[in-house]
Amino acid sequence: MNQGVKTTKNNGAHIIVVGNEKGGSGKSTSAMHIVVSLLERGFTVAIIDLDARQKSLARYIENRQDYAAEHGLKLTMPDAHVLPRSEEGSAAEMEQKDEENLLTLIGNLQNEYDYILIDCPGSDTFLSRVAHMSADTLITPVNDSFVDVDLLAKVNPDTYQVEKLSLYSEMVWEARKKRALKDRGTIDWVVMRNRTSALDAKNKRRVHEVLNQLQKRVAFRYVPGLGERVIYRELFPKGLTLVDFRDSGNQKMTMSHVAARQEIRRLMDDLKLAGWHKAAAAAE
Ligand SMILES: Nc1ncnc2c1ncn2[C@@H]1O[C@H](COP(=O)(O)OP(=O)(O)O)[C@@H](O)[C@H]1O
Ligand SMILES: [Mg+2]
Repeated sequence: MNQGVKTTKNNGAHIIVVGNEKGGSGKSTSAMHIVVSLLERGFTVAIIDLDARQKSLARYIENRQDYAAEHGLKLTMPDAHVLPRSEEGSAAEMEQKDEENLLTLIGNLQNEYDYILIDCPGSDTFLSRVAHMSADTLITPVNDSFVDVDLLAKVNPDTYQVEKLSLYSEMVWEARKKRALKDRGTIDWVVMRNRTSALDAKNKRRVHEVLNQLQKRVAFRYVPGLGERVIYRELFPKGLTLVDFRDSGNQKMTMSHVAARQEIRRLMDDLKLAGWHKAAAAAE
């Protein structure tokens, strides 16, 4: 369907992993908006849904296929895969199988697509670890809450200073080390805020300050991300996103929709993905 704008990488697809050991932070929603933005720019995209229980991203895409077929629409479509965890053998055997399955799938897709996006479950699974190690870009959505920040670092309750790293950032550090040893690759880790509310100014500012401090210590790039908006969730049954509005008939654009489009566009720019800026400039 897409002509495929060539990325600047010549050794295969750029791998984007969306991860956070917490359910409900907006991984699948952000993932879908990123996928459709890439497709809209003419890139070819494959997705791997590792959350085989919820399959939110794969379901979003199924809804998109059904909706396009029912309404005779020609919508951009990624190649979608769901990879469940292995369930047979000893723990070590299952891990070995998981690693093999994911690396084989990535290997098969790597030369076919510009981007591979992997959506992780909201828990620490071995498959998710292998995905993190394979990432060129890791995107972690966090909500405006210290419960979410706690997965990145422990924060002093009085001063809001960062005291030590938490489970998830340690896992990413491990992934970075293993990756460097494996192929000297680096992982560009982007922490994006999601569901930022228009209210609660004090809490919002504190979360912002802590994430801002943390980005130097933990070596991620902290970007504004997406606000809390109905439009990010209401199109799921149709499999659409705001990015499709031009393609999908007469949708009325409100001010919030326009702001949302700008947020998504800004997020895509902030990700600094291989080939994105060139393709974006060509599309202007
Ligand atoms: N920016 C947003 N604005 C409004 N609702 C959102 C936003 N991001 C996610 N949601 C909603 O929050 C819930 C959890 O999002 P989801 O993407 O499934 O998270 P995860 O994949 O991290 O578990 C869903 O109901 C989703 O529609
Ligand atoms: Mg999800």
